[in-house]
Amino acid sequence: MKISTYVKSFRILLLVFILSSYHSFAQDENTSGSDGLSVEAAVVSKGEQLFSGNCTQCHAVHEQVVGPKLAGVYERQSVEWLISFIKYPQKVIESGDEYAVALYEKYKQYMPNHDFLSDEEIKSILSYVKAKTIEGPPPAENVASNDSGTTGGGQQSGFNTNLLLTIIGLLIALLIIVMIAMILMISVLSKFIRKQGDLSEEDQEYLNQKFKFSTLLRSQTFVTVVALVFITFAAKATVDGLFSIGVQQGYAPDQPIKFSHKLHAGFYEIDCKYCHTSVEKSKNANIPSANICMNCHNTIKTTSPEIQKIYTALENDEPIQWVRVHNLPDLSYFNHSQHVKVAGLECETCHGEITEMEVVQQHSLLTMGWCIDCHRKTEVNVKNNEYYSRLLEAHQGNDPMVVEDIGGLECSKCHY
Ligand code: HEC
Ligand code: HEC
Ligand code: HEC
Ligand code: HEC
Ligand code: HEC
Ligand code: HEC
Repeated sequence: MKISTYVKSFRILLLVFILSSYHSFAQDENTSGSDGLSVEAAVVSKGEQLFSGNCTQCHAVHEQVVGPKLAGVYERQSVEWLISFIKYPQKVIESGDEYAVALYEKYKQYMPNHDFLSDEEIKSILSYVKAKTIEGPPPAENVASNDSGTTGGGQQSGFNTNLLLTIIGLLIALLIIVMIAMILMISVLSKFIRKQGDLSEEDQEYLNQKFKFSTLLRSQTFVTVVALVFITFAAKATVDGLFSIGVQQGYAPDQPIKFSHKLHAGFYEIDCKYCHTSVEKSKNANIPSANICMNCHNTIKTTSPEIQKIYTALENDEPIQWVRVHNLPDLSYFNHSQHVKVAGLECETCHGEITEMEVVQQHSLLTMGWCIDCHRKTEVNVKNNEYYSRLLEAHQGNDPMVVEDIGGLECSKCHY
């Protein structure tokens, strides 16, 4: 073989290398990693429901409860292992599996069998765990452990982006090192070949050619590859950007008074409706007036500077300027009483575990897709509702009657 053939195949190798490292980048950007767990919103929200229905009494993602905290569990064991463990924990422990036995020794308790869950359902739970792990601990935790209280919220995405940037940085560094090594190899090799002498003219030409940037720019392969890489990134950024316009999931602004739902609705178990009095009666759930606070705070913690703010507001006859968290655009119509009173939905379904939140944050996407998705899946609540009971009788077939069947997907229902 001639040297030129070597050089050519070497170039192809280099191209393949660059392409494959680009591919591994793209993988990191992708929603599902090597563990095959998708973090798509639909899967995650299904997983979340299953998790809160079956696992929350013993597990949390970022805290140890009765069982271990589940953050990153999909990295500790393979997904297949986790599926079999979650289905039949006792069996796995008794089979002598080292990891499972160690867990059991630590917790001295068997977790119940979950053989009623399908593999897909367990995977969606793990997807939820993964999404929560990536998101990091909720801002409520930060506030609780930080007395100065300057940590607001809405920064959970920081971890994710930082990790991605680190990975990209490392990959680029690796690429540069490999390129330097290759250039060194080329120069050593060409020196060696030159010493051998006895070369054909064509090979001489190859050896003596200097690397010129303009040749590289004129190389069609190079230009195509660079253009492709650029277009892919640009397209992905544009699509992501367009889909996230106005989406404020996780939004948790600092409030003028450090009012905690975790304390009031969680620890003291004050009913949501004690404060949000209109939630069953009207379209809007009201924010309570300072008078409602005063039912208790005219005697409780009266000297606290935070409570003093309530007094000041009342004395000056000024409302407390709470920062609005949830906000649908004006073009859409949403009614609380329909969902809470008629449909009998729990606040947590849409707002998440408010009773755990030090600072309220937007739990759901609040996009049109989110509304529609639930209307496709959720059955109409026919209990104590004569009209719906009759409708159900008239409803043909054996499928359950979901919101879609009563017109829940009609544009005019949600749009003025
Ligand atoms: C009654 C309490 C209880 C319930 C309910 C429960 N678990 Fe567990 N879980 C445990 C305990 C305790 C362990 C520690 C292992 C042991 O001792 O068996 C554990 C361990 C695990 C582990 C391994 C953790 C690790 O660090 O490797 C996973 C994964 C897990 N549970 C997932 C789930 C999922 C998913 C659900 C809901 C479908 C669930 N568990 C429901 C108590 C529970
Ligand atoms: C003691 C009174 C009180 C109780 C009880 C209470 N809340 Fe609130 N809630 C407030 C106040 C005050 C605000 C406005 C300040 C804030 O956002 O933290 C608020 C805000 C909210 C918001 C965000 C509103 C927005 O701006 O979009 C939601 C959602 C909410 N509460 C749900 C609940 C749920 C669910 C419960 C029951 C588990 C509950 N609240 C119990 C007083 C209360
Ligand atoms: C049903 C009774 C009740 C109502 C209504 C109520 N609170 Fe409280 N609040 C409490 C209790 C109990 C505490 C805990 C006091 C303690 O730590 O000793 C508390 C604590 C607080 C604190 C923490 C004070 C501190 O310095 O630690 C703030 C702030 C607060 N409430 C704000 C409000 C606001 C704002 C409202 C009206 C939206 C409100 N509360 C309505 C019972 C109530
Ligand atoms: C089906 C989903 C869903 C359920 C269930 C639900 N909410 Fe909401 N909530 C929303 C949406 C969507 C908004 C934003 C509404 C808007 O911007 O017009 C919202 C907004 C709010 C607000 C801010 C004020 C407002 O009306 O815009 C409060 C407070 C609130 N919800 C409390 C509650 C409480 C308390 C419950 C339970 C009794 C509850 N929500 C149940 C979806 C829900
Ligand atoms: C957690 C599930 C869930 C979510 C999320 C949800 N809905 Fe609904 N919605 C329901 C149910 C259940 C009903 C049926 C209520 C009834 O029985 O009339 C309903 C009914 C409605 C209706 C009345 C439909 C009719 O034919 O009478 C409107 C309008 C509506 N929803 C708007 C919205 C909008 C807008 C959103 C998103 C911001 C939303 N919903 C999110 C469950 C949901
Ligand atoms: C269950 C309630 C619901 C139904 C049914 C519904 N929409 Fe929407 N739609 C919404 C909500 C909520 C938003 C606001 C979403 C946001 O802010 O991201 C929205 C936003 C939009 C927007 C603005 C796009 C944007 O991203 O801001 C358009 C256009 C739209 N809907 C058209 C339609 C059409 C056409 C139909 C009938 C085929 C329809 N919608 C049915 C709830 C609904």
